Amino acid sequence: MEKVKEEIRIKIIHPIAHPEIYQAYGKSMGGGILMYGPPGCGKTHLARATAGEVQASFMAVGLHDVLDMYMGQSEHNLHNIFELARHTAPCVLFFDEVDALGAKRSDMRHSSMRQVINQFLSELDGIHGVNEGVLVLAATNAPWHLDSALRRPGRFDRVIFVPPPDQEAREAILRILLADKPTRHVDYPKLARSTSEFSGADLKGSVDTAVEDKLREAMKRGIPTPLTTQDLLAAIKGVRPTTQEWFETARNYAIYANQSGLYNEILDYLKLSKGPGLFSGSPFRGN
Ligand SMILES: Nc1ncnc2c1ncn2[C@@H]1O[C@H](COP(=O)(O)OP(=O)(O)OP(=O)(O)O)[C@@H](O)[C@H]1O
Ligand SMILES: [Mg+2]
Repeated sequence: MEKVKEEIRIKIIHPIAHPEIYQAYGKSMGGGILMYGPPGCGKTHLARATAGEVQASFMAVGLHDVLDMYMGQSEHNLHNIFELARHTAPCVLFFDEVDALGAKRSDMRHSSMRQVINQFLSELDGIHGVNEGVLVLAATNAPWHLDSALRRPGRFDRVIFVPPPDQEAREAILRILLADKPTRHVDYPKLARSTSEFSGADLKGSVDTAVEDKLREAMKRGIPTPLTTQDLLAAIKGVRPTTQEWFETARNYAIYANQSGLYNEILDYLKLSKGPGLFSGSPFRGN
């Protein structure tokens, strides 16, 4: 996830650690990063890690902190959250599952929700107060449901794709997941090769299953034995990577609704970005 981490460092961690350098370039500290990608690939995890690394207050904003059944109360809550952030600046606000707050206004059936989004937009713009030192981090796995106004410069001016872990990353994740478990001669590269398209969460699920099966076996036989490559491969076989379904949807948006190259990273990831391969598999092929 080096690329994503680098963006977070440049946009969030460094400005807070070295405000003088940013000031020297006449650059104000603010704005936001929107992370998007398939479920279980570490968006929330990365935000938590940022909270630990950043030398500022970090406020994770849950939907329940904002949404309220009474008219006008949600906007009020949102305003209070931003006000608190302005008072404690430098401060990082983290909105997880932000599509619930910033859904396309045209998709809204209830005008009350539209008010919340408008409030969110104007808070991000700093209409109700100066946003210097207020940094916003947000995550979603449905970026196509977000109001495009959110992506205007000064709001979420960086939109980054958090891809599923590559082979090297999968190996590292598996090593961490199995670090405190009894194992014998586990062939990590082989496991990593057998888990393409697996998310971090899928890997965790596979390891959990392997451990449960081993426990059951140990109960039956009365002797505990360490986990082997075979045990893990058996568990992996039973898992269908959850990222597949996401990419099926994402692919359509990336091909047919890629305004301003927003989803280029998805096209790159799916290797659809170059040459005539772009429309292979399209319903219009051959027309
Ligand atoms: N790249 C990764 N490195 C280490 N752990 C990971 C990675 N990706 C996912 N995980 C682990 O998988 C689990 C799910 O990750 P996380 O909750 O961050 O996913 P997410 O991208 O926020 O998913 P969603 O879109 O469903 O909210 C976490 O327990 C996390 O520790
Ligand atoms: Mg998440």
